[in-house]
Amino acid sequence: MNDDGQKRDAPATPHASRLTPDDPVDSVVAAFREEAGRGVSSRSDFERLKGRYLGREKGLVPALFAGIRDVPPEGRAAFGARANAAKKEIEEAVALLSQALERREVEARQAAEAVDVTLPGRRARAGGLHPVTIVRRRIEQIFLRMGYSIADGPELENDRHNFEALNFPPEHPARDSQDSFFVDRKAASPLLLRTHTSPVQIRELARRGAPLRVIAPGRVYRNESVDATHAAVFHQVEGLVVERGISMADLKGTIEEFFAALFGPETKARFIPTFFPFVEPGADVAASCIFCKGRGCAKCKQSGWIELAGAGAVHPNVLTACGVDPEEYTGFAFGLGLDRVAMLLYGFPDLRLLLEGDERFLSQFASEA
Ligand code: FA5
Repeated sequence: MNDDGQKRDAPATPHASRLTPDDPVDSVVAAFREEAGRGVSSRSDFERLKGRYLGREKGLVPALFAGIRDVPPEGRAAFGARANAAKKEIEEAVALLSQALERREVEARQAAEAVDVTLPGRRARAGGLHPVTIVRRRIEQIFLRMGYSIADGPELENDRHNFEALNFPPEHPARDSQDSFFVDRKAASPLLLRTHTSPVQIRELARRGAPLRVIAPGRVYRNESVDATHAAVFHQVEGLVVERGISMADLKGTIEEFFAALFGPETKARFIPTFFPFVEPGADVAASCIFCKGRGCAKCKQSGWIELAGAGAVHPNVLTACGVDPEEYTGFAFGLGLDRVAMLLYGFPDLRLLLEGDERFLSQFASEA
C-alpha cells in the first residue's frame, strides 16, 4: 500500500527517454503515465481511465491506430510498431491497476465484515410459559401422581360428542347458536367449536372402555358476553374416572386432595347440587378462598368461596352411550375452569388479560417453571 493509502500501483515508466512532446504516440503514453501514476481511488475512477485510453469508440489508443493513414507511407511501419508497444504498455498497466483495485476491494470488504470477538455478546431474550400453560402443567403433574393418564380431543367437535352422547336433550339452550359457535349445521352430526372438554369423556370411554382414569385439558369456546370472569375462549380440564364401586365420596376425596395439592393443605372444597345432563347427582364445586382463608374478601365477593368446576357421578345414559354397562361400572367426572384457577393462583383481577398477549402482564410469569 502507498503512503496515502489511495494512489498506488502506478505503472513503470521504462521508455521515458524516448518521449517527444509532439509525437501522438508519445503524448498518449505520457498522458497515460501521468494519470495512471496518480492511481485510482474507486472502481468508477478506474473504468473512466480505462475507457479514456482503451475504449473501442473514443479511446486514445484506438485513435492512434486510426491515425496511421495520416502518416506518410514510409513511416507507417515504425509508427505502427510504436503504437503497438504503447498499447501493450497501457494494457498491462491497466491490468495491474485492476488487480490492485480488486485487492483493495477485498480488503475493504473483509474489514467491514470482520467480527470483533472481544465485544460483549448480545444476550438472547428468553421467553416464558403462558400462565395457563404453567397451571395446566401443575394440574397434570398432580393427576399423573394419582394414576390418571392425559387425553386430548378435537376443538372442532360434532353434536354427537359435544351434546347427544352427553345426554343433552334436543331443546337444550347450549345447542342454540346464541350459546355455541356452530361451524356446519347441515352436517349429519352438526359441527361446532366444543363448548366444554366433556366430549373427551365420550371419546376416551368409547375408545378405551372401563376401567378408566383420565384427565383432558384443552381449549373451549362459548358465545358468551365477555366480562372479568367470562371469556368466549377459555380452558378447562376434564376429569373422568370409571371403575367398579366409584361413588360421590371418591369424587369429593379426589377434589379435596387436588385442591390441597394445588392451593395448599388448608383449602376446603364445597359441593352445591346443580344440574348437568351427563351427571347424576351433579354439583358446582368451589374452593375456599385462598386469599382470606374462607373469611370473606373482595376477591371472593365476601362469600369465602370461589367457584371453579362442575362435577358429579357419571349418568348411566353416558356409560351406555359409550358401550359400558352401568350395572357393572360407575364413575365420576369434573370439569375445571383453568383460566379461573390461574386468576386465583396469581391473584390477577380479569381473565381477559390471559388472551391479550400484553408482554407487561405475561413477562411476570417468565421465571415460573
Ligand atoms: C361445564 O362445562 C361442564 N362440562 C363441567 C362438568 C364436567 C360437569 C363433568 C360435570 C361433569 P360449566 O359450564 O359450569 O360446566 O363450566 C365449568 C367451569 O368452566 C366453570 O366452573 C368455570 O370455572 C369455567 N367456565 C365456564 N364458563 C367460563 C367462561 N366463559 N370463561 C371462563 N371460564 C369459564
